[in-house]
Amino acid sequence: MNNNVFVFDHPLIQHKISLLRDKNTNTKEFRELVSEISMLMGYEVTRNMPLKEVEIETPVGIAKTKVISGKKLGIVPILRAGLGMVDGMLSLLPMAKVGHIGLYRDPETLEPVEYYCKLPVDAHEREIVVLDPMLATGGSASAAIKFIKERGVKSIKLMCLIAAKPGIERINKDHPDVEIYCAAVDETLNDHAYIVPGLGDAGDRLFGTK
Ligand code: PRP
Ligand code: URA
Repeated sequence: MNNNVFVFDHPLIQHKISLLRDKNTNTKEFRELVSEISMLMGYEVTRNMPLKEVEIETPVGIAKTKVISGKKLGIVPILRAGLGMVDGMLSLLPMAKVGHIGLYRDPETLEPVEYYCKLPVDAHEREIVVLDPMLATGGSASAAIKFIKERGVKSIKLMCLIAAKPGIERINKDHPDVEIYCAAVDETLNDHAYIVPGLGDAGDRLFGTK
């Protein structure tokens, strides 16, 4: 596996991914699990945030301590399913700005079609984490990353829950500078480009549309 891919093997993340995959998990539970896993993953994704030393006056004295410094963060969910990951990330990073990219896969061509893009005005000064639970062919994430780069953003990470090997290869090829963070890697896709075994259609399971 390429060095740009980080698979989180924390037991809590793995346990919740198993529940998420279960076809008997209902919409309410699915939504809660996506949010919880996103928060746990966000904790790891932000592990290397730079710190600077500051002095803080406590009730008893002066503490030399650390606060986060460097680039501010932005998160960009890919609509629809990426929306399910926003709350979990914002509970860790309440000051992060949120952009949105609307894409759907054309069921015939399986190519991503853009229908919405709104990023923070200062996106180019931020580190951007793209959110999408599923990385299947990688077409949607690759297109989203391309739009974000076209707005001048230099630092981008991709956070997904389940990544299929073809999607990982596509991102590595199109965007070798982008690190991929995921909770599971699945081998393959079926004829409709669904991840096997995956978890089904993430958007439908999140929003109860099927
Ligand atoms: C899903 C998923 C990703 C995309 C992954 O969205 O949330 O965005 O498919 O597939 P890919 O890697 O082959 O591009 P979908 O197109 O089903 O739209 P939705 O979220 O609106 O349901
Ligand atoms: N989109 C999904 O929601 N699930 C998949 O398995 C592939 C693409």
